[in-house]
Amino acid sequence: MKVGILGSGDVAKALARGFIKHGHQVVLGTREVGKLSDFVKQYPGAQANGFADAAKFGELVVLAVKGTVALEALNAAGAANLAGKPVIDATNPIADAPPQNGVLKFFTSLDQSLMEQLQSALPAARFVKAFSCVGNAAMVNPQFPGGKPTMFICGNDDKAKATVRDILDQFGWDTADMGKAEAARAIEPLCMLWCIPGFLRNEWFHAFKLLQA
Ligand SMILES: NC(=O)c1ccc[n+]([C@@H]2O[C@H](COP(=O)([O-])OP(=O)(O)OC[C@H]3O[C@@H](n4cnc5c(N)ncnc54)[C@H](OP(=O)(O)O)[C@@H]3O)[C@@H](O)[C@H]2O)c1
Repeated sequence: MKVGILGSGDVAKALARGFIKHGHQVVLGTREVGKLSDFVKQYPGAQANGFADAAKFGELVVLAVKGTVALEALNAAGAANLAGKPVIDATNPIADAPPQNGVLKFFTSLDQSLMEQLQSALPAARFVKAFSCVGNAAMVNPQFPGGKPTMFICGNDDKAKATVRDILDQFGWDTADMGKAEAARAIEPLCMLWCIPGFLRNEWFHAFKLLQA
C-alpha cells in the first residue's frame, strides 16, 4: 500500500520502518523536511514531504504527531486529502503538565476522547485508533515470551478497521476491535497505564494482552 505518515518523531519512524519492512511505500509528512534527511537516506523505501503531500500520497494515512497539535496537523494535511481514507490514529491526548507519581495528565475527559474530536472535525476521514497503547520500540513485530500482544482498536468504519487489522496481522499483533469511536475514551488512557512502569521503574518494554475464554 501507499502509506502517508503525518509525523517525524519516534512513532512515525518506527511505523515507517515497519511499513517498509512489509513491502509498503511510505511518505512521511513534516513541517521541516530536512529533519528526516538522514532517515530517508537510511531507508530508501521512505520519502519525506509536507503534511499535505504525505496525506495525498497515502491510500492509508497514519497520524503520529503530538496530541495537542493533532488537529493542526490534520488541517495542514487537508481534509480533501484525507477524505474516504483509513487514518490510523496513534496519538494520545497527553497534556503539557508533568506526570503525577508516574501518571500522565490528559487534556481530554472520560466522556470525550481525542479521536472523537478529530473524527467530528474531519467527518469524511475514517479514523481508526491503533498503536496508541504501546511504546514505539514494540510497535512492529514485538517479541514477548507470552506470545503476541493485543492491539486495541476502534473506529466508525468497518472497512477502514479491516485494513488496519491486516496491517496489525503483518506487524505481529492480535487485534481486539472495541467498536465505534467512543471506545477511544477507554483505549487512549491505556497509554497512562502503559507508561507508569516506565516513569516509576524505568521499565519501557511491555504490552497488553487480552486473555479470552
Ligand atoms: N513515543 C511513543 O513511544 C508513543 C507510543 C504510542 C503513542 N504515541 C503518541 O504518538 C504521537 C507521536 O509521538 P512521538 O513521540 O513520535 O512524537 P511527538 O514528539 O509527540 O510529536 C512529534 C510530531 O509532532 C509534530 N508537531 C509538533 N508541533 C506541531 C505543530 N504545531 N503543528 C504540526 N505538527 C506539529 C511534529 O511535526 P514536525 O515534524 O513538523 O516537527 C512531529 O512530527 C503522540 O501523540 C504520542 O502521544 C507515542
